Amino acid sequence: MIENGHVIDVREGFEKFGETDLFFDLSRGVALPGFIDIHTHVRGLELSYKEDERSGTMAAAKGGFTMIIDMPNTRPRVDNIDVLKNKLKAFERNSFTEYGIWIALPKEEREAIEMMRFSKVYGLKIYPEDYERLEKYDREVLRKIPRIMIHAEDPENISESCEKGYRWRCRPIDAEIKALERIHRVLGSRDGVNITHVTNLYTAYVAKKLGYSTDTCPHYLLLDSDDERRLGCVAKVNPPLRTKYMREHLLENLVSSESLIDMMSTDHAPHTFEEKNRDFSECPSGISSIEFVSSLMLDLVNKNVLSLERLISLFSIGPAKFLGLDLYGCVKPGCRANYTIIDLDKETVVRSSQMISKSKNTPYENMRLKGSVYATVVRGVPVYLNDLFTDPRDYEVAL
Ligand code: NCD
Ligand code: ZN
Repeated sequence: MIENGHVIDVREGFEKFGETDLFFDLSRGVALPGFIDIHTHVRGLELSYKEDERSGTMAAAKGGFTMIIDMPNTRPRVDNIDVLKNKLKAFERNSFTEYGIWIALPKEEREAIEMMRFSKVYGLKIYPEDYERLEKYDREVLRKIPRIMIHAEDPENISESCEKGYRWRCRPIDAEIKALERIHRVLGSRDGVNITHVTNLYTAYVAKKLGYSTDTCPHYLLLDSDDERRLGCVAKVNPPLRTKYMREHLLENLVSSESLIDMMSTDHAPHTFEEKNRDFSECPSGISSIEFVSSLMLDLVNKNVLSLERLISLFSIGPAKFLGLDLYGCVKPGCRANYTIIDLDKETVVRSSQMISKSKNTPYENMRLKGSVYATVVRGVPVYLNDLFTDPRDYEVAL
């Protein structure tokens, strides 16, 4: 039973959705604490042709995500209050899921502190091109920022000259390690620093040694440099796909409860079909996958590679804890009524033509996956249910 977007009582069998007259028969599926993606590129602003707050969060809802935290490398970047306000307005008007924002490194330290005061702002994202400025930034200001997401690749140790199938040589693991060393010299060991999209176990090991948390993405577990060679641009991503053995090693570790990986993120990074069809050296990097990620992972559950408990820990409990959201990542009374309702037996066939995202391309094309999202419930409203969407604004739910 749900009231004002919170669970007030848990019953077997069916669930009434808040003030709506909608009931959902839970005998069709299993309700998991809502999945949270801590690394999504919803784009918007001048990049709305790639994705926007509506298409990106609808794709997220279809993929079972009840909340996403958006990345600030938009055009213009979300590194000042004016752009932040525009982004927040666009989310408020269009989002189908709960949302949050990472800001980019502001020019002025004072503005960084001010931006942190906005609700929905969870912290700062650091890109390789920001390292130099970060090194000169006021350490006191950085200490006041509760969470910092790090893209760990040292720009001085990467190049773009490699052919498809070999990007791992031009952007080597060593560049990730060098980046961690640089970051550690600035930030020291502290809570709230997360090394995002870790591609391999060695990087995860060093990150943990330095006192940081880690996340990885499905493509580093399921795709490798052979796929990059075969697929070209749709498998081009930063940091790049690693070799087969690196991938297998990471997957083997991820499924263990003693893993060096704390969370999963999608790094859903949409680009248009046209952009992804350019020559390999010209096409932008980024994989758009948010609507298939849950099926990709549920398929691993069905193959007994991954346990459902571990999946929940990676997509719900871990992210909720990192974001400091006590009422999330749980389904007991008092928790936010956010659910990812899955049907473990239903098959999903990946078809880019059916994507909700504006980025109609995927490296997972034609894959048959056992396990699907049946419904996504956000604050008591089934924003996605069996291929139909409900706008949460129709039920006056404030996200
Ligand atoms: C990201 C994007 O498209 O915004 N691409 C990617 O390959 N992950 C940018 C980035 O993180 O470098
Ligand atoms: Zn990203």
